[in-house]
Amino acid sequence: MKGRFITLEGGEGVGKSTNLRYVQQWLTGQGLNVVQTREPGGTPLGEALRGVLLGDQAEGIGAKAELLTVFAARQEHLDKVIVPALERGDWVLCDRFTDASYAYQGGGRGLAFDTIAALENWVQGDLRPDLTLLLDAPLEVGMARAAERGQADRFEREPRAFFEAVSEAYRRRASTEAERYAVIDAAQDLASVQAQIDRVLSERLAPWLEVSS
Ligand code: TMP
Repeated sequence: MKGRFITLEGGEGVGKSTNLRYVQQWLTGQGLNVVQTREPGGTPLGEALRGVLLGDQAEGIGAKAELLTVFAARQEHLDKVIVPALERGDWVLCDRFTDASYAYQGGGRGLAFDTIAALENWVQGDLRPDLTLLLDAPLEVGMARAAERGQADRFEREPRAFFEAVSEAYRRRASTEAERYAVIDAAQDLASVQAQIDRVLSERLAPWLEVSS
């Protein structure tokens, strides 16, 4: 059976970690082999680059250097983890992927989407996620939840306008690539968020799971 590539995206404080666990359990409950990973990260080099990008060392980094660093981590991640897993027939569940580059470096930092698309094509060839779940919540909700988490990383210290641009870019991508995206209303309580996720996974994955049985 063919492995599938599922990504989870969203702004700050939308409940990504909790819901990632829920998706992982859902998939393993179907008897699938799931490789759960994250970006930036997922390999020793990628995790080191993540530390640099999120920490104080990268204070004042330029937008292009930031974009190239996330793509350097991504190339390594694809080569060492994602592509081998998919080739084995495993499913890959990734906490953020290239949509985050469009949202943060494109929307947030103002880099041209065409530049990001050129890197995406170069690094990924024609590999794209099969399904992307976007956890979407009004900025107030996400930022209030994120503020409860304590020490903010370099991205979390950005001003509100940055996160408005990030959310806007995510929403725009979700509407232009509606076939790949499923938008989840993450402002609801956890039970309703997970009921939405359950519905989306049941509907969208059914054809792939039937093919395999
Ligand atoms: P998180 O996954 O714990 O939310 O943290 C990762 C941070 O990295 C988050 O603030 C978004 C940022 N990021 C980018 O700016 N570009 C990217 O391509 C990726 C994958 C993440």
